[in-house]
Amino acid sequence: MGKALIIVGSRREGNSYNLANKIKDELKKDRIISYIIVPGNQKIHLCTGCMDCDETGVCDFTDDMQRNIDRLLECDTIIFITPTRWNLLSGDIKIFMDRLNPLYANKKMKGKKMVAISIGSSPKDVYSTDDSVKSLTNFAESATMDTVLTYQFNNCLDFKDILNQEDNINNLIEKLKIILK
Ligand SMILES: Cc1cc2nc3c(=O)[nH]c(=O)nc-3n(C[C@H](O)[C@H](O)[C@H](O)COP(=O)(O)O)c2cc1C
Repeated sequence: MGKALIIVGSRREGNSYNLANKIKDELKKDRIISYIIVPGNQKIHLCTGCMDCDETGVCDFTDDMQRNIDRLLECDTIIFITPTRWNLLSGDIKIFMDRLNPLYANKKMKGKKMVAISIGSSPKDVYSTDDSVKSLTNFAESATMDTVLTYQFNNCLDFKDILNQEDNINNLIEKLKIILK
């Protein structure tokens, strides 16, 4: 049985966080273990681009990314949930991704399953979640991960709007359970 790491791209207890908790609770009912990380609420230095990690496979900074990387290596399925910001992924997710570069040189993310979820306040026909989900799958491609599922939620402005989209959430969770079985 698989294990999932859920990375939440918003630091408020809003749509991304509420969706992450719903996923975690539902997976738990099937005894599937998952962990939630909210990088924006952690201590994570910005990548300086020094590239030392390309040689050494480790980052010079000592912060919460060490524990995050251990978790990521432990899990076979990585679920990114990003709010759409200016049609892109959130800054918190980008900072987290940059700090995964130590895993790049040794291809330690290769073959991990990527689930890319984006959330936006605009309606679907505005297309803004298309680009934010694409920014997640672009990362997966560079990291040699396998994108196994993408999902977009629209019309989510207030903190808990996403919880009104029960059918979408149930559909997503069914798919996740198949991936993680
Ligand atoms: C700086 C900023 C930029 C945003 N840009 C977009 C956007 O381009 N398209 C969109 O649909 N929603 C946009 N939103 C709205 C959020 O994506 C939306 O409210 C989302 O549900 C927030 O997720 P959260 O509740 O997990 O924080 C933006 C919000 C902020 C704060």
